[in-house]
Amino acid sequence: MCGIMGCVGKSGRKSVIEVILDGLEKQEYRGYDSAGVALRCADGVKNIKIVGRVSELVKRVEECASECAGTQSGIGHTRWATHGAVTVTNAHPHESCDGMVTLVHNGIIENSREIRARLEADGIKFVTETDTESPCQLLARIYSGDARSAMSELCRSLVGAFALVIMFRDRPNEIWCARTASPLVVAADGSASYCASDPTALLDYTHDLFFIEEGEMAELTPNGVRFFDFDGTSHGKSPIHLDWDSVMTDKGRYDHFMRKEIEEQPDVLRLTVDTHTSLTNVDMGKSIGLPADMMKNIRRLQFVACGTSHYATLVARDIIESLDNSLDIRADVASEYRYRNVPGGADTLAVFVSQSGETADTLAAARLARSLGTNCIAVTNVRGSTIDREVEHTILSLAGPEIGVAATKTFTGQITILTLLALYLLKEKGSLSASDEARLIGGLRSLPAKLQAILEDEPHIRALAKKHSGSKGFFFIGRRESVPLTMEGALKLKEIAYLPSEAYPAGEMKHGPIAMLDEKLTVVALVPGGDLSDKTLSNVEECRARSAPIIILTTEDNDDARDFGDDVISVPRTEREFFPFVGLIPLQLFAYHIARELGRDIDKPRNLAKSVTVE
Ligand code: AGP
Repeated sequence: MCGIMGCVGKSGRKSVIEVILDGLEKQEYRGYDSAGVALRCADGVKNIKIVGRVSELVKRVEECASECAGTQSGIGHTRWATHGAVTVTNAHPHESCDGMVTLVHNGIIENSREIRARLEADGIKFVTETDTESPCQLLARIYSGDARSAMSELCRSLVGAFALVIMFRDRPNEIWCARTASPLVVAADGSASYCASDPTALLDYTHDLFFIEEGEMAELTPNGVRFFDFDGTSHGKSPIHLDWDSVMTDKGRYDHFMRKEIEEQPDVLRLTVDTHTSLTNVDMGKSIGLPADMMKNIRRLQFVACGTSHYATLVARDIIESLDNSLDIRADVASEYRYRNVPGGADTLAVFVSQSGETADTLAAARLARSLGTNCIAVTNVRGSTIDREVEHTILSLAGPEIGVAATKTFTGQITILTLLALYLLKEKGSLSASDEARLIGGLRSLPAKLQAILEDEPHIRALAKKHSGSKGFFFIGRRESVPLTMEGALKLKEIAYLPSEAYPAGEMKHGPIAMLDEKLTVVALVPGGDLSDKTLSNVEECRARSAPIIILTTEDNDDARDFGDDVISVPRTEREFFPFVGLIPLQLFAYHIARELGRDIDKPRNLAKSVTVE
């Protein structure tokens, strides 16, 4: 929620203004209600803010170019509103009433009202409705020439989540940062220092990054970065090397990042399988670092995640159950798990899945599990993210940076990693036979080519999307291995097309949802061939009898299914457990093309942000 950028010094190829605006553009997926920059120019700090997108901000900054000449430092922000309406006044950066402090913030200051009341009683005039103005005015009140101690006092006074980036009027060559809960990463290349919410905003300058920890502050100058605890004590810190290529964050020839990222899925799958298997063997021992005998003693397995990542865990749960039903498995959304009286301890393994590694609820759930003595593994796409640093054992999903707000290739990365983890766990427990291992790894290896073939069916899926884009809503139905996919298909349509779409286990339709069906509500039925095909087709028949238009998504071996749909999407046959891998791309493309038909903002859907860093 919200993207932050800061730069001080002389960045090689770009001006400070370009660094900040590029960084905001790269992080716009984090929030896009309003945007602003504060630039230290020859005659003071120039604060430029707009309601709308970063592209509008770029135009405004260009209009002010002559006033901003020679800018040597600056901070910027792209906002996802929490406190206060979307207005220019509420947009960041905020300035203290005496002009001493200029500040941007990501997070929520929970004691902002108390601070505000106290300062207002002392005669300080607040001008915004935001929680952010409180730390801004408070810092100006505390500051009397010693930035480190003022920052220290400020940070210890705040309750809630914050990544703060701050300029003091009388310190032209410094930017100060601090963090609790919300992500913040800094870097230095010898002539300039940078900070951002997301590492991808810094990859043009260096790949060696310092992730700011909970309760840590940093002072950025053109010569480098110094780190402090909240009590003001300085300490050293080593960078983490991130080997992502900045080209990966480029849209290339595609109209949307989402479309590009859909196409990258065969490569993500191939890379992940190659990394963790040899011919017919899975080996994740080194990647996880968990002692093998610990795995043998696991009785309970808990998957915890949010949104698409949660649906990925449901795929893993099905795969494990299909091979070994002796484990007690649950898959919870993190926002529920963290407030439940969950069991834990040494015989429990909890797997926390988060693409960003910054989702507030997933982090809190992991902290809870660790406090119970539960063995924890994180699966994340971002090396150096909070979950990677906090949880002892991390497995990286190898999807590369995902920019589109709607998760696509990272879902494929997650289900691949989780499948391999499931196989590894069962193998260590002695409940995976060599023949099942070889069969399933062989199945995984055959998937990239199948995904490639599905991508080639795009014109057909685009035509279906056009035909059904006028529907008043969609029901996605399926059974067992298809159920997580019905959820993901429905979520994609909700988030990028803004259409009502629901997912139901096919057997649940008669228990209520079927009442909603008529000729304007499209049913997308997921019916792979196999033991449950006939049962699902009976449910489809019931929907047809209520005049609902039917799209059947099936596997090429399931001839029976074709006659049940007004439209049919056929995908290659797989191991029964792997239908989610091949069923996914048609559903992503279907949502993508419907959203295009409806003229939606596909990469930055309204009201959403890619990282949900507040509860
Ligand atoms: C999916 O398209 C969404 N972007 C969202 O549901 C996402 O999966 C969820 O917010 C979890 O994010 P995480 O994986 O970064 O924790």
